[in-house]
Amino acid sequence: MTQGQMKKDALDAMKQAAAEAALEYVRPGMTVGVGTGSTAAYFVAALARRRDKIMTAVASSEATAAALRAAGIAVVDLAAVGSVPLYVDGADEVDPELRLIKGGGGAHTREKAVATAAGLFVCIVDETKLAHRLGGVPVPVEVLPASAAAVAARLFALGGTPASRTGFVTDGGNVILDVAGLDLSDPERLEFTIDAIPGVVENGIFARRRADVVLAGAADGVGVLRI
Ligand code: A5P
Repeated sequence: MTQGQMKKDALDAMKQAAAEAALEYVRPGMTVGVGTGSTAAYFVAALARRRDKIMTAVASSEATAAALRAAGIAVVDLAAVGSVPLYVDGADEVDPELRLIKGGGGAHTREKAVATAAGLFVCIVDETKLAHRLGGVPVPVEVLPASAAAVAARLFALGGTPASRTGFVTDGGNVILDVAGLDLSDPERLEFTIDAIPGVVENGIFARRRADVVLAGAADGVGVLRI
């Protein structure tokens, strides 16, 4: 086995441990909001083994909806329920105040909508996602295709370096600009500033709706962070 494969296996084990720990928050009959990405996929697998709880789910992406249905879990639209008691999702980066950067999978617009409609947001990550401050990964920004150039210019003016995510279209039919180099010393303000640019659909900073609980998988167990 190569070193790279061993590292991936270790990360996968930490993601899975965090996802399994999130089952603690699922109550019988609950409608659970389910995120997108490799860590959320472990949560779908964990839910599938607990179908005795007869839960329904709100999916944060078409990919997650398909995975839930394949696991035999009924999927309902957020519009049909209005809110969910629990949302479980991964993240690309987590700061000590449980603010997040998300959108590595390009699903952050719907993820933020479901997270905002959730009573409790439980974020599941491997411990490598924990950071002293946000900014170690680019901020994904979902943009109307026609506005991509104009939005990129505004993001440059904010000090960022936007890169188009090639060959990727969001569930909403839009494009993603991954923006490196932004000043994230005030994440709430930057989240608001980027969303105010005409043509921006949503950005991947989750500061206003941050996580309530972070479950961080490590080699020796799962750490629980709360604010
Ligand atoms: C999806 O758009 C993202 O927000 C994911 O939740 C995030 O990128 C974490 O993904 P992984 O669990 O695959 O690391």
